[in-house]
Formats: sequence, structure tokens, C-alpha cells
Amino acid sequence: MRTPLRIITRSRKALVIWRQSAFLSSRSTPRRVNRTSSEVCKEERSSYITTPIFYVNASPHLGHLYSAVLADCMHRYKLLQGVESRFATGTDEHGLKIQQAADVAGEDPLTFCTGVSQRFRQVFGSCDVSFTDYIRTTEERHRRAVEHFWCVLRDKGLIYKGSYEGWYSTPDESFLTPTQVADAVDAMGQPIKVSLESGHKVEWLKEENYMYRLSAFRTQLLDWLQKNPRAIQPDRFLQDVLQWLQDDLPDLSVSRQRSRLQWGIPVPGDPEHTVYVWLDALVNYLTVAGYPDDHDHWWSVARHIVGKDILKFHAIYWPAFLLGAGLAPPRSIHVHSHWTVNGTKMSKSLGNVVDPVERSQAFTTDGLRYFLLRQGVPDSDCDYTDRKVIKLLNAELADSLGGLLNRCAAPALNPTQTYPPLCPRSFTSEQDGRAVPEDYRMLDAVRSLPTLVEHHYESLHVYKALEAIASCVRQTNGFVQRHAPWKLNRTDAGDRRWLNSIIYVSLECLRIYGTLLQPVVPRVADKLLSRLGVRADERNWADLDFLLSYRGRTLGRDTGVLFNRLESPVGDEQKPRKMKKTDNYPKALNLGTRS
Ligand code: MSP
Repeated sequence: MRTPLRIITRSRKALVIWRQSAFLSSRSTPRRVNRTSSEVCKEERSSYITTPIFYVNASPHLGHLYSAVLADCMHRYKLLQGVESRFATGTDEHGLKIQQAADVAGEDPLTFCTGVSQRFRQVFGSCDVSFTDYIRTTEERHRRAVEHFWCVLRDKGLIYKGSYEGWYSTPDESFLTPTQVADAVDAMGQPIKVSLESGHKVEWLKEENYMYRLSAFRTQLLDWLQKNPRAIQPDRFLQDVLQWLQDDLPDLSVSRQRSRLQWGIPVPGDPEHTVYVWLDALVNYLTVAGYPDDHDHWWSVARHIVGKDILKFHAIYWPAFLLGAGLAPPRSIHVHSHWTVNGTKMSKSLGNVVDPVERSQAFTTDGLRYFLLRQGVPDSDCDYTDRKVIKLLNAELADSLGGLLNRCAAPALNPTQTYPPLCPRSFTSEQDGRAVPEDYRMLDAVRSLPTLVEHHYESLHVYKALEAIASCVRQTNGFVQRHAPWKLNRTDAGDRRWLNSIIYVSLECLRIYGTLLQPVVPRVADKLLSRLGVRADERNWADLDFLLSYRGRTLGRDTGVLFNRLESPVGDEQKPRKMKKTDNYPKALNLGTRS
């Protein structure tokens, strides 16, 4: 009769332990976030993300790289989720200002464009922008797509010959109404007219050209936005578009006279005219999708990333062209604000343009990517300074993340160089239990982190995802600091179990952080996951179960510091030097949560 009682007592105790240590179980991990219907649906197995195509009249700068790394982050994230993903970028090579820039360079336009386009490609390549398609508007496949698109619109009676009289901004390649221009004076003190939006000089234009019946699309555009309230994100930009749709929406000139603009695609059937450069450029998104041939598959999942200055072209003109051609508007348009430098607009004339290659050499590619995506808030302009970069990277990548790895992987605390055994009893209120409420809060935060990060990546609020990861890294450092495993007595069995549990849990946290950080800092994440002994086929979204059994897994080879601290030499903020490889080694065990 005694035996069953003992069994009952034991099993009650076991139940208590199980309930409390269920906290450590991965089974309760919420794997998927509840998304609104207009966000990409869970079942969607394909994704097509685009950047704007870049004008080749100037060299790539930090703002261009920002558009590209945002898109790259989305693409890499989709791949981790097992989604078939396409990511297009490229160059916008036609138009008056390119023609003028080639003249100034003394080169024929195509040679000039090829040189600068190549430069963009190299810069993106060197910053690990993993595009799958690189489109140039001077390519034959694109000319075919534009011609076809034009003919569809023309045959539907949406393009007619008219005459345009009004303002034109060549730097923006944009037609402006009188309410969109203002008086100003140029550098010589001469009165000029400028675009209110961009500040660029405008000129009066009077020419016969082809017009698109834009005015006929107001209702359809409003209808599209009403049915798809998340088609333009963030919301403040949707509000701008809704406001524009209340204003005057005149028909749009979609050609220039050949005599004025030779560098472009001739209007089909009327070589005296050249297709308007924005119509030409926007069609690039269709060209990559396969238009005019088989394009439905990719077009139906297209999402654009654009800077705020080109919102009107993407959110009004482009959907109106698409609707006219019988095609769906893009799935969504994600708008971002601009980077300023020391509080000033970046411009060639001010000489403050930030060169992404130079900066990525100073801070590493991942360092620059992390800064842009951690500090870049789509809703508002962000300011770039070297000082901010150094401060952020030292705090979050070198000290916080790197410090945590050093602590858990250092032979002093982890002599077996493995994931040591986790003792679930340490996380109960049993006699052996050591964990405190803050530890449970940390575990809870890490367990729900993938869901949160997924939500932020999905809506391209990458900075929020990184904020959440950084907060968890801080909490894990706090966990280690609080329990000071280096003070535990290894000859005591209980202490040893607790020490092993601290290391195990911290290594697991690091595995989650490394997996989630891959879209942002692919090299650092690779180094981290390799050090943790995580195989290449174990780094996907499906592998994010927290506290999965890695018990006994051997750590990878020690390849040194995860991210070197950066130092700004006194009096030379523009040229930070990389510290030596060993600079932050000795501090490893003493690092607090510094960030
Ligand atoms: N060629 C057009 C786009 C055609 S897309 C069918 C164009 N090119 S651009 O080179 O001028 O700009 C490309 C992108 O870079 C735009 O999204 C623009 O907003 C972005 N940026 C330009 N300067 C920027 C900053 N200072 N900061 C952030 N992004 C910036 O427009």
C-alpha cells in the first residue's frame, strides 16, 4: 500500500517541477504572429521586393545604401522563412539630367551609364546587398516592356496627343503645377522659380506631347487605398497621398519632344517623341517580373521600398498607369525618410555626401548596416554622424552581444566548450531552485522575441526589431551578471548544476539572437552561430524554438572577437580606426551591461 502513495507524492512533486520548468519548454513558444489581412498572408510562398532604381548622374551615397539594405533585410528574412524570394534593384539611366551629366563627363551616354551603373553594383555587392536581379533601363528587355506597356495604354485610349505648358524640374524629372513652385534667388542673386517640395530650380516648358488621362483615376485610386489601408506604410505617408488625391489631379504629360530629349525610349509609332523618364523607370518593376510575358506570379506579390521624395510617382502615377493597363497596383509601398548629415541635407555642393564604401571600410559592412537599420526610422528623417555610429556599435555589437558571447564561451567558465547540461530544477521554487523573477521575465521576453521580430520585419520597422533584440541581449547580460557564475564553487554539485544552467540558457539566448540577426548583420550572425556550433541547416526561422535540446553540443572553433570595438581618434571624427583584434578580450569576464 505504501508504494502507490510514494508514487502519488512523487508525481505531485514532479508535476510542480514540470509546471514550473514548462517555463523552459519550447512547446509553448508562439511561433507565428497574428497579422492583419493586408499584410503578407502566412500561406504566401513567394515574395518580390524592390528598391527604387538609382539615377546614374551621381555616385552612390548613404541614402541609396539605406534603401538597398532595407530591401536586403526583407529578402534575407523571407528566405529564412523558407519563402521563395526575389529582390530587384538597378539603375535609372534615361532622361535629360543623365544626358547632361554624360555631356559634362565628355562621354557618350551609354558608356557613361555603364560606368556609374557598375559602380552602384559594386557598392551594393561590397555591402552584402544580395539582390537577385539587377535591372538597367537601357537593357533591351526593358525597352520591350516599356513599348508594350505604352501600346496597351494607348490602345485603351488613355494616352492622347496634347500640349503641355507649365513648370518642369530637370533634377526631379517632374512636371509641376503653379501651386507647387515658389520664388527664390540663385547663387548669382538672380530671381528663379523653384519646386516647393525639392527646392530644385524649375523652368517654363511649352511643348506638344502625349498626355495620360490621370484625372480619370481619382476614384479608382481612392477605392484601392480604401480597400487596402496598409498599401502605403507608414500611415503618415498614406495621409499625404490621400491629401494629394483631394487636390487637383491634372492629366500627366508622358513624353518629351525628341529634339529636346534624345536619351530615352522613342514613343512607339512616333519617334519624334521620347517616353517620359518616370513612366520608363516605373515599368522596371514589371520588366523584372517578366512583363510582357509571364509576369503574374511575381507581380502579384510585389512590394516597393521608396524614399519619401518619390512617393507621388509610386503612389499615384504608378498605380494609375497599372490600373489603366489592367494590372493590379503593387501589394504595398514602404516609404522611408531621409538621412541628413550633422543635421544638414546631404548634397554634392555642400561636400557632405557620405560615401558608403569608405564608411563600411571604417566600421565594417555589418557595422554600417546595423547602424542604418537600427537608427533609421521610416517615419522621420535621421541624422548621421560618425560619433553616433561608433557609440552604437561599441555598445550593442561589441560590448553587449560580443561580451555575452565571450562570457559564455570563454574556457574559464565553459571548460568543456559545449552546451553544458541544463538543470530544470534550477528554475523551480524547489530546494535546488535558484532563479529569481527577473530571470523568468528574461526567459519570457526571449521566448516571445521571434514573434515580435517577425512582426517588425514584416512591416519593415527593422529598427523596432533591433530594439527588441538589443533589449533581450541586455536582459541576458543582466541574468549572467546577477548570478555571477564565476563566483560559484565548482566542487559543490548544486553550484555546478546552476553554473551549467546559466551557461546553457545564455548560449540558447545567443542562438536565438544570432538567428534573428542574420538579415541585418549576416557576417556577424554567421560568426556568432558558427561559434555556437549551429550548423548551416539549423539557422532558419523554423529552428527558433527556444531551449531546444542543444545539450552536449560542442561549440564551434574560437575565431576571435565577435565585433571589434571602434575608437575615434582625437580630433578626427571622420576617420575612426578599427581596434586591434585582441582589444576587448581581457574585459570579457568583467563586462557589465553597458549599453
Ligand atoms: N530614379 C529615381 C527612382 C526611380 S524608381 C522607379 C530616383 N533615383 S535617386 O537616385 O534620386 O533616388 C533613389 C532613392 O534614394 C530614392 O528612394 C531616394 O529617396 C533615396 N535617397 C536619396 N537621398 C536620400 C537620403 N539622403 N536619405 C535616404 N534616402 C535617400 O529617385
